[in-house]
Order: sequence, then C-alpha cells, then structure tokens
Amino acid sequence: MGTLRAQAEIAVWPTDEIPPPGEVLVREAAASDGLISLLTDRVDAALLDASPRLRVVSNYAVGFDNIDVGAATERGVVVTNTPGALTETVADFTMALLLAVARRVVEADRYTRAGRWQSWGPMLLLGQDVCGATLGLIGLGRIGTAVARRARGFAMRILYHDVERREAPEQELGLEFASMEEVLRRADFVSIHVPLTPRTRHLIGEPQLALMKPTAFLINTARGPIADSEALYDALAGGRIAGAGLDVFEAEPLPSDHPLLALDSVVVAPHIASASVRTRTGMALMAVGNLLAALAGRRPPNLVNPEVWERRRLIQQEGYK
Ligand code: DGY
Repeated sequence: MGTLRAQAEIAVWPTDEIPPPGEVLVREAAASDGLISLLTDRVDAALLDASPRLRVVSNYAVGFDNIDVGAATERGVVVTNTPGALTETVADFTMALLLAVARRVVEADRYTRAGRWQSWGPMLLLGQDVCGATLGLIGLGRIGTAVARRARGFAMRILYHDVERREAPEQELGLEFASMEEVLRRADFVSIHVPLTPRTRHLIGEPQLALMKPTAFLINTARGPIADSEALYDALAGGRIAGAGLDVFEAEPLPSDHPLLALDSVVVAPHIASASVRTRTGMALMAVGNLLAALAGRRPPNLVNPEVWERRRLIQQEGYK
C-alpha cells in the first residue's frame, strides 16, 4: 500500500465485506485510471463503458474469469494478473486436500473432538493410501506441474491431460499423457488445474464423473464452475465416487445449508488455496507492480491482453491508427 500511496492517489474499499456493491465498484472505477480488482469483482463491459478513464485493470489473482478480457481489449484497457506468485502455495494446498480426503483427516478430527474415541481399532476410520496411487491431473500448467512434483515425492503414478502435450515436465517428472477419458477412468485422485473459460465450464459433469472409479476422489483448487456442482453432489451422495476435496464452488460463498456439507466424504475450504502470508503479500506486490507499470507507460510484467499494449505502442511510436 505504501508503494502505491507514494505514486498514486488511491481509494480503497474500506471494509472486509467484499465484494463492494456493483454500483460502488462502477462509481470508483469511473473516477480512476487504474483498478486493482479481486476475483470477486465483476469487471464487465458495462463497468468499462462507464469508466472511459480506466487504462488498466490489475487483477489480484492468477485467474481472471471475473474480467471480460475481450471487452477490455476492445476498449484498449490493459488487463494483468498474478501468475507464479501462488503456484507453490496452491500446489501445497492441493496436496493438503488430497491427503485430507484420502486419510479422512477432517472426519478423524471431528470424531476425536466429539469424544467418540473409545479405543484403538483395526477398522477405525480406514482411508485410502496416497503412496503408490494414481494421480490424474486435468491441466498441466504451472500449478498442475507443481502438484506433479509433490506427487512424485509420494511415489504416485501421474497421468495428465491438457490441450497439448507438455514434453519438458512430462520427461522431467515421468508423467504419462492420456486422453481426458483415460485420466478419469484410471486415476485414484483427479485434480483440476485448468483456468475457467467458456470451454472449461462444466468440463467435469455427469458423464465425466461416471467414468471415475467408485474409489476415486476429485480435488478442485481451480474454479468451482469447472465441475457441475449438481452432478458432483449426485455422484458423491450416490457413492459413485469416493469423495472430494473442494476449495472452490460454483456459487461462492458456499451456503451453510448446502447439501455437500452433509457429506463426510467431502472436505471443503473457503477458496484459500493461495492463502499464505508470503503468497498473498507476493500477489499484492505483483498486482501493484503491474498497475504502476501500466500507468507509467511501461509494459506490465504480467499482461493478459498483450495486443492492447502492442496497439498502444504502434499508435505512440508510428502515429498508426
Ligand atoms: C487465483 O489467484 O486465481 C486464486 O483463485 C486466488 O488466489
């Protein structure tokens, strides 16, 4: 904040009750040259049209599905994000969820606190082994690769599916490329690591869940709408898959009476996979760096829509329109 205050006049949404009402966001954006947005802020064509001064939207997240990037690009507004800053932290949390669902950590905690622990028992809270199990990664970008690196330490067999083969991590980490169907059929743990786009919305629906083994778990630290929540609930409640570790949901925050919360086989978290002190600080510095660079006419390090920058450069340097 100090860095930002030293270089710009800033208005900050003053409470922890986020997001700010849409009309407040629009009003503030309309009076600003730059906006640092959270993933809960909707930056759409209407906001951009109301904000002709706005030159840059710096998203405090690696995902930018809250922003209509096409509309920003058409209007010459630079969009940036925070890739890299959170990769390792999200990968750690993915493993935390995976281990928690496999070994029933949350159930065990509840059981112990409830005073139900009477004696050691050979069948008490039996889970599934992670060591030696097969991990299926849907998406092998930065975070998927970081998860694969950790999974190697657990001696997991690792399959992945992505829109294209990624030979370097594949060879370095001994991964096997497979079709989406094969990953779903063979994996003991399916972990989602793709961005939310129109193409990935409900990528995991009823037909995909039906391919998974009844002993398999789904882990989602990417974006909720990538998995169809009704189909996921049905698969879990019907025992068609063994469980799920979910940090993200189709509708956030997850209501406290959501039926998923009645299922012991599900471990939930409130979208905190990147929530470590170091990472959230790193994301903030990155978001500020991106914003200030763009406002100062320097190419921001994490441009989502480079074509806007290229167009600006041509206009400035060659008088091209
Ligand atoms: C992101 O950055 O997209 C995460 O979901 C929040 O850290």
